[in-house]
Amino acid sequence: MQRITVIPGDGIGPEVVEPALALVQALGLDVTLDVLDHVNADAYLRNGSALDAADLDRIRSSDATLLGAVGDPRLGDTGYVRSVLTTLRTELDLYANYRPARLWHDRLSPLRDRARRAIDCVIVRENTEGLYSGIGGSTRTASPEEVAVDLDVNTHRGVTRIIDFAFSVARRSVCLVDKANAVRHGGQLWQRCWREAVERHPHVATSHLYADAAALRLATDPTAFDVIVTNNSHGDILSDLTAALAGGLGMAASANLNATTRQGLFEPVHGSAPDIAGRQVANPFAAILSTALLVEHLGHRDAAEAVRRAVAAAVGARRVTPDLGGRLSTKEAGAAVLAEVC
Ligand code: NAI
Ligand code: MG
Repeated sequence: MQRITVIPGDGIGPEVVEPALALVQALGLDVTLDVLDHVNADAYLRNGSALDAADLDRIRSSDATLLGAVGDPRLGDTGYVRSVLTTLRTELDLYANYRPARLWHDRLSPLRDRARRAIDCVIVRENTEGLYSGIGGSTRTASPEEVAVDLDVNTHRGVTRIIDFAFSVARRSVCLVDKANAVRHGGQLWQRCWREAVERHPHVATSHLYADAAALRLATDPTAFDVIVTNNSHGDILSDLTAALAGGLGMAASANLNATTRQGLFEPVHGSAPDIAGRQVANPFAAILSTALLVEHLGHRDAAEAVRRAVAAAVGARRVTPDLGGRLSTKEAGAAVLAEVC
């Protein structure tokens, strides 16, 4: 029996996780759920930390983890969100952030050109290095002379493993996105690792774009892309763009993976959305599609495909929440998917 750790989290996190778990149960898989209800902002406010060593042990020893979202307006920019997300990513060394974007229904595309709407690509984002590694500092802080520095960390090992991961999930092609023309040293390292990887994978079509050009191309013809591999910050931004091209944050799923240990943390791309929390209007499909990735990771490919087909059917029948132009509540939209699966 496989064990899934669940962290519902804050805001809309528990609301979108609930229908996702109902779906897991309905699929009849041989799995148990270990729900860590206590990992949230309340715990952080009480104890100054939300995730302790015992939680990490439970997560590490399970087969996969599902996270709703963390974040609470009471905590603002205290580092709470970072403490949970970064701890999980670094402790489990989840170096690959896999963010698929597929247009489930033509109606969801913001693009004018019909022929170019059918986005079906994956952003593979480096998840442990880059500008988000937290190394830096400031001097003469809060004065007009302030100088603030954040280091962009790129290691040969880190870059090589994320590019290899991208090749391992490619269906048609891999496009490297960087800013090697302006960010010289890290850029040259990425370019060198890229050339080495291209030689190791001679049967996959490859291309290269600078990040600005990639944004323009995505906004005009996303059908040009299969897998895009890029660093932490470019991947963060471009994956919001691909999410928008595929129907918005309510549809965007993601996985944080380590291909060697097979550890995986699955979560919708969106946050805790305090502006709509508690009202049962959040779209549960991002959480449900993240659960499909989780189920597939556990080896249940048919179950994952059934969930995806059910989501497509629900969207097609307009059995959706207000963000997609529907009138259903979070629970009802989840039930619509469930009805398609069963
Ligand atoms: P957000 O993703 O929570 O919300 C952005 C906008 O999208 C809001 O208007 C929200 O109502 C809407 N939205 C998000 N998910 C939706 C859904 N499923 N259905 C319908 N509408 C949806 O980002 P925001 O507001 O910047 O951050 C809120 C909190 O979440 C912050 O504390 C932030 O730090 C945290 N956060 C946590 C993440 C995580 O747990 N992985 C990721 C991003 C943000
Ligand atoms: Mg983001």
